[in-house]
Amino acid sequence: MRAIDEDKLMAFVGQVVGDFGAMATAPLVLLGEELGLYRAMADGDPVDAAELAARTDTDERYVREWLCAQAASGYVAYDGNGRFHLEPEQAVAFTDESSPACVLGGFEAFLAMTKVQPRLVDAFRTGNGIGWGEQDVGLFHGTARFFRPGYEANLVSAWLPSLDGVVEVLAEGGHVADIGCGFGHSTMIMATAFPASRFHGFDAHGPSIDAAGKWAAGAGLANRVQFDVATAKTFAGDDYDLITYFDCLHDMGDPVGALQHARSALDPAGTVMLVEPFAADDVGDNINPVGRLFYAASTMVCTPASKSEEVGRALGAQAGEARTRVVAREAGFSRFRRASATPFNLVYELRP
Ligand SMILES: C[S@@+](CC[C@H](N)C(=O)[O-])C[C@H]1O[C@@H](n2cnc3c(N)ncnc32)[C@H](O)[C@@H]1O
Repeated sequence: MRAIDEDKLMAFVGQVVGDFGAMATAPLVLLGEELGLYRAMADGDPVDAAELAARTDTDERYVREWLCAQAASGYVAYDGNGRFHLEPEQAVAFTDESSPACVLGGFEAFLAMTKVQPRLVDAFRTGNGIGWGEQDVGLFHGTARFFRPGYEANLVSAWLPSLDGVVEVLAEGGHVADIGCGFGHSTMIMATAFPASRFHGFDAHGPSIDAAGKWAAGAGLANRVQFDVATAKTFAGDDYDLITYFDCLHDMGDPVGALQHARSALDPAGTVMLVEPFAADDVGDNINPVGRLFYAASTMVCTPASKSEEVGRALGAQAGEARTRVVAREAGFSRFRRASATPFNLVYELRP
């Protein structure tokens, strides 16, 4: 029997109690968003439960309990005397979808991915995969929502300019394919910034492509952006100036086959932009809060998705630069470089 240090044990359990609190609070964040509770507090004025319930047409007793749970989480501020308010930073995080600090999509996506747990038990035993489309429907909307603010903040201002000569081509009028585009937010952000170019989003998941088409119509982009269901190894076209992958290459079973197809569909002077989750090459350097999130998502979603497709290479969300470079080399790309990075993403430039 190994000796137990009681102080260390209590400190560890205390840490996990914090994790229990995060798990228990996640559904209440989504509830608060759906019922407009955060939005009704966005002005920062202190409210009590009765006032918030009246503003949102909800039940006072439930709202009081929700407010206390939110305050104990540090998600709203408690003023004493039963009154609560949202600090400006909390208001941004819970109500401003345009901000990269908005956390709503993260709650939606991470809560949705936990629903796969019963199936994952079987997958661990058999080694079988679970396709992206087999996950809880909340994951599709939540993922798109989670990633979009980061794309809004970085794609046009930093990531595209970090690629050699790409902005000039797109400004003049280029042809772009966005592979594994999901709801197509990345495609539409590029299309909005570069009206002279043509954009084509592809994804293997039909419901996501349907959603992308609706978003494009709503944004008035339907005439310049086309969305079609296609896999990364079968998408159409052969003259692309730019082919992009946003947070999806590692989800694919055959990333080498996918990049080989991209190489054949690229103009000889064209570029591939790979946006992948931030990761160091050494596991020890990913043992941190961002690595925690990405490894968990990778266990529940990315690794099963890749194992469900042919080859099943299962790169994982924390593939890192060295392993991604190997994939690009195997696919025949002669140039590979890290072009840009944020705390959450690595951006690579590949040239034939
Ligand atoms: C994590 S989501 C990212 C979606 C989108 N790029 C974004 O950033 O919001 C991964 C996407 O890859 C797509 N995908 C997975 N395997 C694919 C394949 N072999 N061909 C095309 N799309 C694929 C999934 O359907 C899913 O939409």
